[in-house]
Amino acid sequence: MQPWTDGYVTEVPYTAGHHAAMMPRNLALALLSAGIRPPDLEPGFTYCELGFGRGFSLALTAAANPTGRFYGNDFNPDHVGEAAALALRAGLDNLTVSGCDFAGYRDEDLPAFDIIALHGIWSWVDAGQRALLLDFIRHRLKPGGLVYLGYNVLPGWSQHLGLRRLMLDRLLAEDGPLSRRIPAAVAFAQSVARAGGGYFAANPQAAQRLELLAGRPVAYLAHEYFNQTWEPHYSADVAADLAGIGLTLAASALLADQIGLEALPSDARALLAAESDPVRRESLLDFLTNQPFRRDIYVRAPHPLSAEERQARLWHQPFLRLTAPEFLPSTLAFPRGEIPLERDLATLVLETLESGPATAAELAQGSGVLADLPADRLTDLLLALTAGDHLAPATGIGTDARAARRFNAEVLARSQRDDDYGALACAATGGAIEFDRIERLLLLAERSGADPVRFAADALAHGASLDDLAARPRGLKRRRQPRLFALADSLQPWSAAESPGQC
Ligand SMILES: C[S@@+](CC[C@H](N)C(=O)[O-])C[C@H]1O[C@@H](n2cnc3c(N)ncnc32)[C@H](O)[C@@H]1O
Repeated sequence: MQPWTDGYVTEVPYTAGHHAAMMPRNLALALLSAGIRPPDLEPGFTYCELGFGRGFSLALTAAANPTGRFYGNDFNPDHVGEAAALALRAGLDNLTVSGCDFAGYRDEDLPAFDIIALHGIWSWVDAGQRALLLDFIRHRLKPGGLVYLGYNVLPGWSQHLGLRRLMLDRLLAEDGPLSRRIPAAVAFAQSVARAGGGYFAANPQAAQRLELLAGRPVAYLAHEYFNQTWEPHYSADVAADLAGIGLTLAASALLADQIGLEALPSDARALLAAESDPVRRESLLDFLTNQPFRRDIYVRAPHPLSAEERQARLWHQPFLRLTAPEFLPSTLAFPRGEIPLERDLATLVLETLESGPATAAELAQGSGVLADLPADRLTDLLLALTAGDHLAPATGIGTDARAARRFNAEVLARSQRDDDYGALACAATGGAIEFDRIERLLLLAERSGADPVRFAADALAHGASLDDLAARPRGLKRRRQPRLFALADSLQPWSAAESPGQC
């Protein structure tokens, strides 16, 4: 018995993730950093997520960006039901979800989109479905719009191809619910690994991954490894598919990948510098880093900015701090390696941002050292701090946070039931801010004036230790204080009395 619809698992709902790189303002900043003109997000924009899973990421993005209009589809009825219910409870009147499959969605009554995002779809559906996705993008992407594409890459996954096949063949040899067949398939692969030698000895990464898989929930494993199609791609092949509908690879959506290039060994950087063709260069990068997943931005007819235009736009981009200066590290750790941080300058920037968001132009007015800094050094530092998650692009003062507040009330309340929704919507950045479950329970308790004994009982029931319980409120007030400040409008009434200095 095959557990698929159009080759995709529908028996088990997926996990509810969120992806910072997909958020509109992060996408715009990533393009700008790469020297490509981003779509104009002011005063409003249209955004579509294809195959949104349980819709948490899409709903959060809609809540944090009330001037955008958000759309998306997912053909799993449990997924679309959950997304619609969340949108209703949070009063997200800027979000429209559809249960249509990719074939039908193109013909629904939809606007043209500034942003079309697909995360975790491309490598998990067959060539026929990918053709439908391309067709949707061709019809629905606005001129000047961008496509975000997150997918599994070769050669990064090459060692794992056999592992997935071994598990899938075992699953298909059995009958019954996936909740039983998937753990059995993983256990079977483990018994092959224990037999020694052979594939797992020759592919040690596959053996390591198999160990990790044993601890992962069925909801994750089902969607990651047990669809009919599981096809990591060479980035050059994906670029060729998108070139077929007139789109060009413009940038990595991860600032950390753009900036982290500096962390590569000098020989690797020399090889990259010698390659002028952008697609071959990215392909080379995949071999040099063996990265398993890419988050790329594609655009139709990219408009390169001159160095002066890029600098002028970055100069007037507001940033909001997410880290207090005393918690700054001495290096920025990125997937591609570590780069040193100019800690004194970074500290000055974070101190100056204590009172609220500011642009490089405003920072340069405020202090002698920052004012004397060459403009590009200051904007490079702001981008590096953003890549390290110490700053976020800000949406501007006075953003309407009502939808974020309603959404966050839902997320906090849900934390009493389960740990599925792990982030809050931040209207000040248009993005997500992560808090773990104990922190969310603490925020819920403080926000609602709940009984501290009830909070402690909840937290202990959900895995906190007594030490954890004692340390967490202090940690929230100190280490996480800038994040709470960023959320102030989005989390009223709890944070109304908080101000930046009160740690
Ligand atoms: C791996 S999940 C990714 C979900 C979400 N984008 C994320 O990153 O969390 C892939 C999603 O695509 C949906 N999907 C797969 N094939 C589809 C189709 N033909 N039409 C609509 N949705 C589909 C699945 O139901 C699933 O929710």
